[in-house]
Amino acid sequence: KETKDQLIIDAGQKHFGATMCKSCGMIYAASNSEDELQHVQHHHRFVEGIKYTGWKKERVVAEFWDGKIVLVLPRDPSYAIRKVEDVQELVDNELGFQQVVPKYPNKTKTLLFISDEKKVVGCLIAEPIKQAFRVLSEPTGPETPSSKECQRAWQCSDVPEPAVCGISRIWVFRLKRRKRIARRLVDTLRNCFMFGCFLSTDEIAFSDPTPDGKLFATKYCNT
Ligand code: ACO
Ligand code: ZN
Repeated sequence: KETKDQLIIDAGQKHFGATMCKSCGMIYAASNSEDELQHVQHHHRFVEGIKYTGWKKERVVAEFWDGKIVLVLPRDPSYAIRKVEDVQELVDNELGFQQVVPKYPNKTKTLLFISDEKKVVGCLIAEPIKQAFRVLSEPTGPETPSSKECQRAWQCSDVPEPAVCGISRIWVFRLKRRKRIARRLVDTLRNCFMFGCFLSTDEIAFSDPTPDGKLFATKYCNT
């Protein structure tokens, strides 16, 4: 009788059990071929990064010693849009986001940081907004380990403040973090989001920041 019970449990796990990949962090059902395929794709991108071989018409908005920033707009050729979608899929898988439809898809601006090894190592997706709610700072301070552990439970002010530009995603390839890539993406966004003006840090808002995102945003906005 014991063996039979065990068999039933095994069969159930094989069919419905979710596995988490130890290297890329993705949770998927190993028994589901569609899930498995998605994992293989995510795993490869997570480890190798996304290649960028260059486009005939590319909008280079900033150049650095270690790479460049390219701006992609909604009406760009499909190869550019597809590249942004690939990157967004990687980022969303990594952040555990469900697919979110942007409010102003035709006004979205995407910045890609391209490394000199021809890989997309940073991405920033921004859209126009009218107001934002300030994240209230915690009594412990943003740099303490305890605040990093607690997941997205930041307290927000309930008083809306005017804002111009919302950052819905900011991401840097894990091997390239802490090299000021995110900082350079936001600097460049402030310069190219609205023609002819440089946005102040009060005019930009980070949507639903992760612990990493909040540490970055706090540091960025105070310096
Ligand atoms: N811990 C502590 N401080 C940090 C961290 C961190 N993880 N990340 C950035 N900072 C602070 C530092 O003070 C840093 O300056 P320093 O390195 O001279 O001390 C400063 O911010 C500037 O950091 P950058 O080097 O420009 O940031 P980076 O290129 O590493 O990118 C990012 C930061 C985008 C948050 C990156 O860690 C990442 O991709 N994380 C995973 C994805 C994620 O969580 N994205 C945010 C989601 S929220 C949203 O999209 C709205
Ligand atoms: Zn994996």
